[in-house]
Amino acid sequence: MAKSKVLVVGGTGYIGRRIVRASLEQGHPTYVLQRAEIGLDIEKLHLLLSFKKQGARLVQGSFSDQQSLVEAVKKVDVVICTMSGVHFKSHSILMQLKLVDAIKEAGNVKDLGILKSGSKI
Ligand SMILES: NC(=O)c1ccc[n+]([C@@H]2O[C@H](COP(=O)([O-])OP(=O)(O)OC[C@H]3O[C@@H](n4cnc5c(N)ncnc54)[C@H](OP(=O)(O)O)[C@@H]3O)[C@@H](O)[C@H]2O)c1
Repeated sequence: MAKSKVLVVGGTGYIGRRIVRASLEQGHPTYVLQRAEIGLDIEKLHLLLSFKKQGARLVQGSFSDQQSLVEAVKKVDVVICTMSGVHFKSHSILMQLKLVDAIKEAGNVKDLGILKSGSKI
């Protein structure tokens, strides 16, 4: 099977970490967005380092820095977004539209998966 370069956004979340591991296990070059906002969150940093040890590549970025999202998606063929954590659903959707805009601007991504509330997994 051909391997795709996969970017996981929300990679330290409940679903995201499972997708990162599955992508690595299946041999896809796997990139994980490391958001600037996580700061010194030890649990997230620990998880990100463990992904790195397993072969993932960490990509710095922020939803507050559109160009950083464009640069992140330029590296991959497929983007999987498992972000959540924003209280208002409409706000979460607006955040994810930033990612869609970045994908349109980058112009190279073949596939985008967004996991939303109520998704069957
Ligand atoms: N958990 C389930 O059983 C389940 C079932 C069906 C559907 N879903 C859906 O799947 C999605 C993920 O759920 P989850 O349970 O994995 O959520 P989660 O554990 O809360 O993880 C969501 C991730 O989103 C990122 N995030 C948080 N705040 C953010 C912000 N302000 N801006 C950008 N990114 C932010 C964080 O990842 P980073 O810090 O790594 O960036 C966080 O770990 C949600 O849409 C949820 O409704 C979940």
